[in-house]
Amino acid sequence: MDPISRPAIVIDNGTGYTKMGFAGNVEPCFVQPTVVAVNDSFVNQPRSAVKNNNWLAQHSAGVMADLDFFIGDEGISRSRSSNAYNLSYPIKYGQVENWDAMERYWQQCIFNYLRCDPEDHYFLLTESPLTAPESREYTGEIMFETFNVPGLYIAVQPVLALAAGYTTSKCEMTGVVVDVGEGATHVVPVADGYVIGSSIRSIPLSGKDVTLFIQQLMRERGEHIPPEDSLDVARKVKESYCYTCSDIVKEYKKHDKEPAKYIKQWRGIKPKTGAPYTCDVGYERFLGPEIFFSPEIYSGELTSSLPEVIDKCIQSTPIDTRRALYKNIVLSGGSTMFKDFHRRLQRDVKKLVDARVLASDALGIGGIKAKPVEVNVVSHPIQRCAVWFGGSVLASTPEFFQACHTKAEYEEHGASICRTNPVFKGMYLYR
Ligand SMILES: Nc1ncnc2c1ncn2[C@@H]1O[C@H](COP(=O)(O)OP(=O)(O)OP(=O)(O)O)[C@@H](O)[C@H]1O
Ligand SMILES: [Mg+2]
Repeated sequence: MDPISRPAIVIDNGTGYTKMGFAGNVEPCFVQPTVVAVNDSFVNQPRSAVKNNNWLAQHSAGVMADLDFFIGDEGISRSRSSNAYNLSYPIKYGQVENWDAMERYWQQCIFNYLRCDPEDHYFLLTESPLTAPESREYTGEIMFETFNVPGLYIAVQPVLALAAGYTTSKCEMTGVVVDVGEGATHVVPVADGYVIGSSIRSIPLSGKDVTLFIQQLMRERGEHIPPEDSLDVARKVKESYCYTCSDIVKEYKKHDKEPAKYIKQWRGIKPKTGAPYTCDVGYERFLGPEIFFSPEIYSGELTSSLPEVIDKCIQSTPIDTRRALYKNIVLSGGSTMFKDFHRRLQRDVKKLVDARVLASDALGIGGIKAKPVEVNVVSHPIQRCAVWFGGSVLASTPEFFQACHTKAEYEEHGASICRTNPVFKGMYLYR
């Protein structure tokens, strides 16, 4: 069967989680932590083998090291149960840092999870908006050389997220994508499917920071959580109990007035002894997500809040696109899932915009007043996997196969073809 008649494979590799599945589906088949557990005992083989020049032992150790590794949740549980496995996180801050681990990760995604032959499917992979062209070349090399894929497209994550919003709420392909994941936060303006590269903004605050902040708050409050478990507990507390408040002072008062209503109990089991324990979850419920709106509570070095960064981003785009961008601020990524996150963001961006309109009215000549600016933050049910879903939709259109780099092109021109991607019909995936 021709690969074009089979569904393309869509893999969105994030710093924290990889979403993988087949084009045309609404949800990825698997969402797994982007982590590889490698058995280092083969790599650090006994000296005696090397001393005696036992090449067979060395060779088989190398082969075993290549085979004995696990990814995702399985990798994490292997590393917990045996000291032989060491965890390696191939992606940091949205960029691939360990290509060897990344290749192993893809290998397992394809053969163990999706269980398909890569030679039979076109592939859509994703990348952060700040990825260097060299990185795309490496990706191309691995996909075409190691996996022998017939076709490849590397799409920009926020553009896919915008496409997801487009199909779910009939928005335009003009908007600002606010992608807040595990390791990176990007604010990316897109006009008619084109990324306005010079206006992309990033902030060094993401899901990982919320987790670390919650861990710190719970430690300072003296909650008795086993240290080896505290990061994991902080992440689970964040995902289950945190919400965005409208006013931090009022929220403190609410918690103090009715603690029984707001304080939650976390029940855990000590990993070493197996004994159960409980701890309280209090102010961190609203203080965690607050770092996006008042970053100074987390770090004195951070001065710009997420709403300010969004406003600055839009203000730096061409003047005739700004209104359309304010009207369609689309959320994407797991760390935008906090309850009422979109409401607070919309209110705070609107405040900044209204203040500017008022100031310009005060300076206005001849009493001409500026038209109010509509600010709309779009939240949708598949926000968590918006990038993957956008990829799934676009990779199921016939134009996708024409936009892909093919194996034949790769063989003729080399990996440099992956430096740029051709304009996708309707410019959806332009980079
Ligand atoms: N319900 C939830 N509420 C709050 N945070 C959540 C929720 N579910 C997941 N998260 C957080 O979202 C983050 C993962 O989001 P996502 O999968 O979009 O990131 P990623 O793609 O792996 O990372 P990046 O895009 O930064 O490279 C993690 O920090 C996770 O704890
Ligand atoms: Mg992501």
